[in-house]
Amino acid sequence: MASTGLAVRRIGVLTSGGDAPGMNAAIRAAVRTAQCIGIECIGIRHGYAGLIRGDFVPLSEKDVKGLTKMGGTMLYSARSQEFMTDEGRQRATDTCKYMGIDGLITIGGDGTFKGALGLADRGIKVIGIPCTIDNDIGCSSYTIGFDTACNTAIEAVDRLSDTMQSHERCSVVEVMGHRTGYLALNVGIATGATIVLIPEIKYDFERDVVSRIRTARLAGRTHFMVIVAEGMDPVHVVAENIQNATGVDTRVTALGHVQRGGPPLMRDRVTATSMGYTAVMLLARGQGGRIVAMDGDKVIDIDIHEALAMTKDFDHELYKMFTTLTFLDSKEADIGEPE
Ligand code: F6P
Repeated sequence: MASTGLAVRRIGVLTSGGDAPGMNAAIRAAVRTAQCIGIECIGIRHGYAGLIRGDFVPLSEKDVKGLTKMGGTMLYSARSQEFMTDEGRQRATDTCKYMGIDGLITIGGDGTFKGALGLADRGIKVIGIPCTIDNDIGCSSYTIGFDTACNTAIEAVDRLSDTMQSHERCSVVEVMGHRTGYLALNVGIATGATIVLIPEIKYDFERDVVSRIRTARLAGRTHFMVIVAEGMDPVHVVAENIQNATGVDTRVTALGHVQRGGPPLMRDRVTATSMGYTAVMLLARGQGGRIVAMDGDKVIDIDIHEALAMTKDFDHELYKMFTTLTFLDSKEADIGEPE
């Protein structure tokens, strides 16, 4: 297709913040879409830090071959202190202008979008793509990487469960989530965990941990799984308290960055591809200052100011379902009301 009629001629793409499975698939989709419709695509390495210092690499269809199935990000990712400042943002804007980059796709989470807003307010056409294993972006019902990360954690918890069963132990597993419990709750549901501790739900150690384990034990359970979202009480403390209060031999595992790696699963490959494609199409039409998002299974785009003001409601029904299913004695269930 000839480039005539396109609102942009050269665009940049960068990944920023914590990486997530599917980032590469989004880059690939953006590069291929751009090339197909006659837009030049520049890869910006090391996130906003690379944008400031001009760490650029031209990208064509050949450079992104086979990228759909690759974890990580071929463009590297970073959190730039300099870009947090007005001077840093101005320098990044100047670099865009100097390099003739008239559209920018930024792939990442909340921090990435705040940075994108700084550029949008300086006149750069920016499109954000939500990509974080935390699934904590207010404007999007789903973020790229969440499904793969959940499945990685699920596999690990299933393995731990086998050995906990053999030794009649309790396992306390810390999962990521960055101040939210979406990952922890979904992993807890999928693995049939005994207890999930998440920031959205206040808990009482005696009532919500000790007595649940005791109840489960009385009902015949011999091993226990406690999933803890990062940022809650330190897992080794939770484990020690469980062991002291119940006498159950307890072990700790922090899954950590293993949750961020590995080949993306279908949902993340397809979502990333759809979002990468949509982002380029928006720029081609001259639109900027927007975030591509999921509304259920539909890809939409939202004004960046509005998008950043949106918050995600915690799914209390999902938590209620978890507690209903895990309480062996439903009479003891105190599932509480939404906070
Ligand atoms: O936002 C993704 C995430 O993995 C969070 O779950 C976690 O809190 C954070 O990033 C860890 O960041 P870092 O890569 O700096 O250790």
